[in-house]
Amino acid sequence: MKIAPSILSADQMNMGRDVKAVSEAGADLIHVDIMDGHFVSNITFGMGIIKALKAVTETPLDVHLMIDHPEPYLPIAVENGADMVLIHAEATPHIHGAIQTIHNLGAKAGVVINPGTPVDSIIPVLSIVDQVLIMTVNPGFGGQKFIKEMTKKITHLDQLRQTNSDYSFEIEVDGGVDDKTVGLCKDAGADIFVAGSYVFGGNLEERIKSLRVE
Ligand code: DX5
Ligand code: ZN
Repeated sequence: MKIAPSILSADQMNMGRDVKAVSEAGADLIHVDIMDGHFVSNITFGMGIIKALKAVTETPLDVHLMIDHPEPYLPIAVENGADMVLIHAEATPHIHGAIQTIHNLGAKAGVVINPGTPVDSIIPVLSIVDQVLIMTVNPGFGGQKFIKEMTKKITHLDQLRQTNSDYSFEIEVDGGVDDKTVGLCKDAGADIFVAGSYVFGGNLEERIKSLRVE
């Protein structure tokens, strides 16, 4: 399993310090939540944060774009150092083309679905994505309650993956992941676990270790 701490819960005045610390504490990926105040009702940091983070850590950057019509931002994200770019199926009518664009730019590509979006709606892109991110909260803010119902989507996706040899995506979960909910996601078939408020809410090394459940 891979643990991806979300820097949304880091100290924004000390982002460099916190990112280095969480990398040293055992993070497998750094999850970067970029919001536009339109697709979600919150604004975080711009594309420049990717470049700034890249300069201080070698841990791969897992960039989650909560941006309507993300296409113009894809080249900037990859140029700035995003290792994987995750875009929402709800954010563009051209999700297939946008995934292809990310690949052509040289990064890994992921599709994200909100709690209200069914897995079946992304079947047309499952053979071309590297990651599928299942939102286990409605996106926009850290510290929200895990929506247990979403584990059914993880199970469904995992079943699809097991019965289709052309699917090689990893399943990622994001929102309300802590030492209590991580096991539900793991048992359902998830591989990558984003956690913000839980990881940054205590000793980084201990919190990351506690997410690595059997
Ligand atoms: C929510 C973001 C998440 C958020 C998770 O919109 O996509 O990545 O940082 O925060 P926690 O782990 O606190 O739910
Ligand atoms: Zn996220």
